[in-house]
Amino acid sequence: MNWWKDLRGKIRFNEPLKNKTTFRIGGSAKFFIEPKDIDDLKHLLSSVKRYKIPTFVIGAGSNVLVSDKGIQGIVFRLNAPYFKKILKYGSHIYAGSGSLLNQFILKAAEFGLSGVEFLAGIPGTVGGALCMNAGVGKKNIGDLVEKVTVMDYNGNIKVLGRDDIRFEYRKSSLGKFIILSADFKLAKKDKKEIKNNITNYLKYRRDTQDSSLSNAGCVFKNPPGNSAGRLIDLCGLKGRGSGSAYVSLRHANFILNRKNALAGDVLRLMSLIKKRVKRKFKVNLEPEIKIWR
Ligand code: EPU
Repeated sequence: MNWWKDLRGKIRFNEPLKNKTTFRIGGSAKFFIEPKDIDDLKHLLSSVKRYKIPTFVIGAGSNVLVSDKGIQGIVFRLNAPYFKKILKYGSHIYAGSGSLLNQFILKAAEFGLSGVEFLAGIPGTVGGALCMNAGVGKKNIGDLVEKVTVMDYNGNIKVLGRDDIRFEYRKSSLGKFIILSADFKLAKKDKKEIKNNITNYLKYRRDTQDSSLSNAGCVFKNPPGNSAGRLIDLCGLKGRGSGSAYVSLRHANFILNRKNALAGDVLRLMSLIKKRVKRKFKVNLEPEIKIWR
């Protein structure tokens, strides 16, 4: 079953996913594929469907915890230049889903277009950020979207307008598709002012969050009207460890990988955190990170 024979992009077998995630944790993907363009992806999906192979899409790997056993299927990454274009038209920006968020923000600033500065410092791709409606405070990427072009797993391309997409807190209805690109409507602004905004957002992240060791950002979603970090902190769990993973001393909703932590270490720590927060505050914490097994 040589279903990948017509691929024009790249394929790697038993590819370690550790170095494809910001957590630096997890086993290998049986197939790791970077299609060259939309046609390549479409062609591949028809074969994948025939053989019923489980399929995942990875962006910058900043919000996933990959199981230690790895993925017995395909992991796609839209990392070819085709998927990383960022273009301006009027006060709109088109961005390929594989573009890094930070590139997107810098380009917008160069174009004199404002609105996405709050995403500065989030280590994701445009596609990943859209899929989980990344945000800061009450601002979310979904609010700026005009349309999103996606492919379903049958290889059909659809253009979804703003009203065809459900964006919720750290969640969207785009998860069932492969996101190809998005168009955003931004506002014209003085470039210096935009750069100042970016600097302020970066400073806030630096001052409050923890990037000293590999991590996946906030592990749990904030419960309504509260902060998961604050609740975990009030349970006295900062510094609490499991194997080589431990709760950051700086921000309690961050779990750090001291060195060679296992997904199992993180999962045990998450389960302890959930239990303690539930016992003390009667609050059910829900994971923000996606757990791939
Ligand atoms: N706090 C504590 N102890 C801690 C952490 C936070 O008491 O260990 C308190 C802070 O002092 C503050 C409150 O909790 O009063 C909120 O903390 P923070 O401003 O750090 O924001 P957050 O609610 O923990 C959210 C997002 C972050 C985003 C920041 C930007 C979620 C789960 N988290 O964090 O997103 O960067 O706001 O303000 O929505 C992510 O999604 O991965 C992420 C890091």
